Amino acid sequence: MRVKGLLGGLLAWALCGVAGASTVLVTGTNRGIGLEFVRQYAGAGWTVIATVRNPATATELVALAAGNPKIRVEKLDVTDVAAIEALAAKYRGQPIDILINNAGTLGDVPKQKIGALDQAEFLAVINANTFGALKVSEAFKPNLLAGKTRKVFGMSSGLGSSAQTARRGDFYGYRASKAALNVSFRALAADWRAEGIMVGIIAPGMVETDLLRASGFPGRGITVEQSVRGMMQIIDGMTLESNDKVINYDGSVIPW
Ligand SMILES: NC(=O)c1ccc[n+]([C@@H]2O[C@H](COP(=O)([O-])OP(=O)(O)OC[C@H]3O[C@@H](n4cnc5c(N)ncnc54)[C@H](OP(=O)(O)O)[C@@H]3O)[C@@H](O)[C@H]2O)c1
Repeated sequence: MRVKGLLGGLLAWALCGVAGASTVLVTGTNRGIGLEFVRQYAGAGWTVIATVRNPATATELVALAAGNPKIRVEKLDVTDVAAIEALAAKYRGQPIDILINNAGTLGDVPKQKIGALDQAEFLAVINANTFGALKVSEAFKPNLLAGKTRKVFGMSSGLGSSAQTARRGDFYGYRASKAALNVSFRALAADWRAEGIMVGIIAPGMVETDLLRASGFPGRGITVEQSVRGMMQIIDGMTLESNDKVINYDGSVIPW
């Protein structure tokens, strides 16, 4: 019994990366993959800064945080530059080991079809999925530099892959936003490499969330538990030497 407890403790310690207080910031955590990141990192003993657009309606997250003082719920719309800067100012001096830019939107699918392309919709999707992820990363760079592991991630998608696009069109704004995220995060990786910040690009697979349901492919995905468990291993293992590809939750590579 005592051996079992000791093994459990060692496992939690290993998942924490380095013993002691490791901190992860995750955006878009009121539902789906983001909420599951909070569950699993908090369950492994991490301090989690969990950002949401609307804390008042984030009932599951708030309930989770009520039972764990290491979860800090913060309001953040990643398209609101002033809010990003205010949150970064609030956390000035706080080391952050890992930043996961999870927040993302599929947008309104019919407005992203050829024949009905909507400019405002297209730009709104890119604003959240590409610019938001970059701007949040930029704002929290000092926190990453103060952290132990110095890792920041963009959340990509197979829909951002040029190589995989031959099979089907549609989702123009979303595809463009994820392809733009890929190239932007490669540029960020180049810019920050010398300072020891590892910029990685990960993807969750097809996961049963509101986003997948809205895409018209429900029932074909994996669970959030499986996806996040896999991505946490990828996040843990990715280094400055292995961050040059888009890595799926199961370790497979998504071609550019
Ligand atoms: N599910 C999949 O199969 C799949 C596949 C590939 C990639 N992804 C990516 O994985 C990430 C998470 O997706 P999911 O499946 O968990 O989707 P989801 O269930 O729709 O959740 C999206 C999350 O992002 C938040 N969000 C959207 N726009 C935001 C903004 N402007 N500011 C702050 N938060 C914002 C949402 O908050 P609100 O509730 O306030 O809208 C929500 O918390 C996304 O980047 C998505 O593109 C998902």
